[in-house]
Amino acid sequence: MVIRKRKTDEDLPMELLLLADPSEEIVKEYVSRGECYVAESEGKIVGVYVLLPTRPETVELVNVAVAEGLHGKGIGKQLVMNAVKVAREKGYKTIEVGTGNSGIGQLALYQKCGFRIVGVDLDFFIRHYPEEIFENGIQCRDMIRLSQQL
Ligand SMILES: CC(C)(COP(=O)(O)OP(=O)(O)OC[C@H]1O[C@@H](n2cnc3c(N)ncnc32)[C@H](O)[C@@H]1OP(=O)(O)O)[C@@H](O)C(=O)NCCC(=O)NCCS
Repeated sequence: MVIRKRKTDEDLPMELLLLADPSEEIVKEYVSRGECYVAESEGKIVGVYVLLPTRPETVELVNVAVAEGLHGKGIGKQLVMNAVKVAREKGYKTIEVGTGNSGIGQLALYQKCGFRIVGVDLDFFIRHYPEEIFENGIQCRDMIRLSQQL
């Protein structure tokens, strides 16, 4: 598997991107402002993430996703570790990520990759998404913010 920057003439892996965020509008906006990276295995795109510059020296990791049949094989961890490496190489000092309060696996993954919880944006998902979101039997209401110094 190789992780590489998406080529400018390459179609967006929208099906994958929508696994991480149900809004196509928000996904397209992120991709237009950030840099999209893909994991490719045997000619197929199996994973994706986007690095979004936010403030001076800070970048946000958004839209981390792995193809549904391939979860639990370590691809997500490789994507997140790659994003941290790329951000460091580009000279950023801080990488941030946010995930829903109901994302138990995501919270485990990011902490295993060196992120620490730094805040909670209460009711973020209630304010920004028209549909209720449920995961692991928990309503997704709050955005848990995590960060890592590079
Ligand atoms: C989140 C996602 C990217 C993870 O990808 P993945 O390839 O399945 O993840 P990995 O196999 O690399 O596992 C990640 C780590 O989290 C751990 N983990 C996952 N769920 C866990 C849980 N409930 N408790 C403890 N650890 C857990 C795994 O054990 C693994 O750690 P390890 O390598 O030390 O064992 C993937 O499930 C996905 O695409 N989900 C849909 C999109 C999404 O929700 N994106 C995140 C948006 S914030």
